[in-house]
Amino acid sequence: MVPTEFAIAIMAAGKGTRLKSKRPKVLHEIGGRALLLHVIAAAETVVPADHIYCIIGHESERVKAAVASTGVQFVLQPEQRGTGHAMQMLKADFELSGAPLPKHLLVLSGDVPLIRPETIAAVRDVHLREHAAMTILTAVPADPTGYGRVLRANPNAPEVTAIVEQKSLRPDQLSAPEINSGIYCFETHALFAKLDALDTNNAHGEFYLTDVAAMLVAEGKRVVAIKADSVDEVLGANTIAEMMHLDAAMRLATAKRLMAAGVTIFRPETCVIDAQVTVGPDTTIEPYVQLLGNTHIGSDSRIRSYSVIQSSQLGDNVLVRNGCILDNAEVASNAILGPYAHLRPESRIGDGAHVGNFVETKKATLGKGSKANHLNYLGDTVIGAGVNIGAGAITCNYDGVNKHLTTIGDGAFIGSDSTLVAPVTIGAGSYIAAGSSITEDVPEGALALGRSRQTTKPGWVAARKAAAEAKKGC
Ligand code: UD1
Ligand code: CA
Repeated sequence: MVPTEFAIAIMAAGKGTRLKSKRPKVLHEIGGRALLLHVIAAAETVVPADHIYCIIGHESERVKAAVASTGVQFVLQPEQRGTGHAMQMLKADFELSGAPLPKHLLVLSGDVPLIRPETIAAVRDVHLREHAAMTILTAVPADPTGYGRVLRANPNAPEVTAIVEQKSLRPDQLSAPEINSGIYCFETHALFAKLDALDTNNAHGEFYLTDVAAMLVAEGKRVVAIKADSVDEVLGANTIAEMMHLDAAMRLATAKRLMAAGVTIFRPETCVIDAQVTVGPDTTIEPYVQLLGNTHIGSDSRIRSYSVIQSSQLGDNVLVRNGCILDNAEVASNAILGPYAHLRPESRIGDGAHVGNFVETKKATLGKGSKANHLNYLGDTVIGAGVNIGAGAITCNYDGVNKHLTTIGDGAFIGSDSTLVAPVTIGAGSYIAAGSSITEDVPEGALALGRSRQTTKPGWVAARKAAAEAKKGC
């Protein structure tokens, strides 16, 4: 196959009125990624990105900005007057640029996001084999309501007679089971020759691309349909409820992919796992875990319930106890986190290090085997290996204007409830006495006390009692 014989158009100009949302429909996300990016990713496996034409209109600049990095081409449809009108804009764009027409044009919908590359390729191959002017991808879902219906004269033959939109169905056609997926392959000349003849005499007052089917048939051209292997793959996302149905289907597919690769996921239907997430074998994911963005988790790890891990990299044999929140963090092998640890961006947790209950880290490096187990705030800090941070100790990194660095050398012991006022350096192997406020650098191996001395008054309680009684007696 010569790839330049094919181009792909993705219709993505619509507003998505049924979503009742300010965000353009194709930028709504399922599986953690915009609908349009899913469709582009599938299209890119069939033709190169510069042969993909995204037809954009509603909030076009926003849509363009969100997908520009993919290298696709854009065609503007300033007013959204229907799917047929979207194709008219593409035709006008080719005429204006003088670019050679691709022999065949695959058309995808920006709001049919689960379409697989194999299925797009199958539509292309059937189209070529059948020498068709138009090939339509169809499906037979449990409830076809709302979709355009594909009508065939003979249910067992590939030839189609027409596509009829839901609102134009006659009563006897309402139960027609086969839906139009909105995904097609056209012989480009045949399609473009019909676009000017489309009209808006229909329930929506729009130019329907679907009308081209009957127009081609009337001219004796071949219009065929091919059924998708799975119904889910061609379901549209017109409402939030439909979108969440697709989101669940996509996440379950991701969970199944991970399980097939040796990951144990208890109650996968309760987990929210983005499509790009990777996890090594023999790792266990407990119920109600979220793994988002470009997160990678190594092997032999355990992620306990209610943890939310966003765009973070975790090594092997890591234990994330319940309720941890990680955002753009790096965690080396053998580390133990939580319960309820909060690792904010640029947290780097070393091999075998522990970050325990109610500990918050930000721009913090914790060296190999170091421990911060209870109630700490560690921000803008570089902590060496084998350091013990006592309960309640914190870095005071912010002076109200600027952030400052705290450096803690290997093997240092930071007593409980200490406040380390940055900028400050704590030397390797030194001790900070509990309850200290440390404002000056501490050299290696030293003990630093930054608190007032304790005063103890023996017998004070009894003396006070005696004094009170004497007063009562007089
Ligand atoms: C369309 C089909 C219907 C099919 C269904 C499958 C038509 C007339 N109907 O209906 O037969 O069953 O898809 O999901 O085509 N768009 C534009 N410009 C426009 C209008 C729409 O780019 O002027 C884009 C939308 O952003 C969307 C796609 O085209 O991505 C489909 O449009 P939509 O309005 O959702 O069509 P449906 O009513 O779902
Ligand atoms: Ca739709």
